[in-house]
Amino acid sequence: MNIGLPGHSTGDGRITADGLLESPAWRELCTHRDELAAISTADLFDNNPERGTAMTVECDGVVLDYSKNAITDRTLRLLLRLARDRGLRQGIDAMFAGERINTTEDRAVLHTALRAPSSASIALDGADVVPAVHRVLSRMSEFADRVRSGRWCGATGRSIRTVVNIGIGGSDLGPAMAYHALRDTTTSRVEARFVSNVDGHDITEALRDLDAETTLFIVSSKTFTTVETLTNARTARQWLLGAVGDPDAVSKHFVAVSTNAEEVAAFGIDPANMFEFWDWVGGRYSLWSAIGLSLMISVGSGPFREFLAGAHAMDDHFRTASFDENLPVLLALLGIWHRNFCGAQAYAILPYDQRLALLPAYLQQLDMESNGKSVDRWGHRVSADTAPVIWGEPGTNGQHAFFQMLHQGTTPTPCDFIGVLEPGHSRREHHDLLMANLFAQTRALALGDIDNPGERPPHRSFPGNRSTNTILLPQLNAYTLGQLIAMYEHKVFTQGWLWGVNSFDQWGVELGKQLAGRIHDDLRSDRPPRFDSSTNALMERYRLSRRAGSAEQIVTTDPK
Ligand code: F6P
Repeated sequence: MNIGLPGHSTGDGRITADGLLESPAWRELCTHRDELAAISTADLFDNNPERGTAMTVECDGVVLDYSKNAITDRTLRLLLRLARDRGLRQGIDAMFAGERINTTEDRAVLHTALRAPSSASIALDGADVVPAVHRVLSRMSEFADRVRSGRWCGATGRSIRTVVNIGIGGSDLGPAMAYHALRDTTTSRVEARFVSNVDGHDITEALRDLDAETTLFIVSSKTFTTVETLTNARTARQWLLGAVGDPDAVSKHFVAVSTNAEEVAAFGIDPANMFEFWDWVGGRYSLWSAIGLSLMISVGSGPFREFLAGAHAMDDHFRTASFDENLPVLLALLGIWHRNFCGAQAYAILPYDQRLALLPAYLQQLDMESNGKSVDRWGHRVSADTAPVIWGEPGTNGQHAFFQMLHQGTTPTPCDFIGVLEPGHSRREHHDLLMANLFAQTRALALGDIDNPGERPPHRSFPGNRSTNTILLPQLNAYTLGQLIAMYEHKVFTQGWLWGVNSFDQWGVELGKQLAGRIHDDLRSDRPPRFDSSTNALMERYRLSRRAGSAEQIVTTDPK
């Protein structure tokens, strides 16, 4: 199986894996960037009155207007050539066909199979994965319906009012983001909460006003070995048993979502209460699997399936649309233009919809954990810069916080502005204002203050030429959210493929985890310090405060 690029000949018979910087399209893009430097975005709009519509593409109601990027038709033609030359088509086909493109873990990457219809067939190692996906989906639906209707009862016979998802990273950010986005679309009586941080304040706050008898915990972890999740799950179990007393209560108040049945059983959750998924689903791509159970319970299995259908529609678009009309491909190429040719180190995600407040955090993991790499698929140092810093906040809040830097700062930061045409409320006045702000910001960033020509003191001048995309959804519902998230997944895949990195592993998180384990052991022992002088001193400070804290606790709890 050849999942790489055709390779690059060094002239001495050796083929190196990459050759990105030597590719003709890359070289031409470098020259082109220098030519473009003298042209302003305002000129580009002046020169072509149709620019706005010419640089807008639409897929099944999702609109992408990329005309406010400081690019020309030639920029785009060169970027599209880069995509072709780097074998993007083969990459897409390899991913959808279940080839093991996650080479360092020797795994296929098939989150797209999680949203394939039951009529589809996707073979992995000779077996069709789709029936298993739909079997788990049916189990989830059946369980979600029982919880939602009050037929699933806790140990004391009362129905469930709150589900608490305990997970972290991909086992938290996806369901939490989607729940916040969609909770207004349901009249469910079941509320969802999310606990992720090992910081005890997180679970303390989540449990503060909960009634154990009506609470269901979903312990979500692909590996079921993640310290934060298991610590929170143990605390939750203690809290439950403290309130309900009966150890058998666990089976009525705890279910698990994992790929690791053994560890689930070792934790004490009946495997019959486990919803499985598979190692070919990456953690940050797992929202569509049983990791979405808390979402399904809170919004209903119908909307959850709509969510999958929206993502599947975007999969089809990504797989079949020509690159010049392909939303994820265009977003990816524009991002590469800014990152690699214009020096952008950051990229802002600015949803003009409060319901999408958690989208920037979700996309942060998706993008930075996937493509924040300095080694390529062949084990060499990457030749070009990879993932930028992803950050953002909803508009209009961000305007009153960090937009100063976007307009006049020295670090060019491309942005995605995301708007929703029809709001989920009836306060039209608010929505008109919100959308006016979105349109105003993108115009000001691109064109500067062209409506008021004339001399201005430097501190009041707006240079323009600050690139943005505008993404519009007709409404925010389960289907369109599915489209939006899948669009960004494929954007990230495309960039990773072109940069030559494996977007589906995350070895960079390992060292910190291992060290935390050793330091944790030492903090709780009297072992002499064994790290560097800074870490040793910081640990000692903590140990002192810990001892003082324990002593104080003994004094206050011991009546003698
Ligand atoms: O440490 C990073 C990571 O492995 C993420 O990739 C993942 O989403 C998260 O931890 C949680 O992992 P798990 O679902 O196995 O608990």
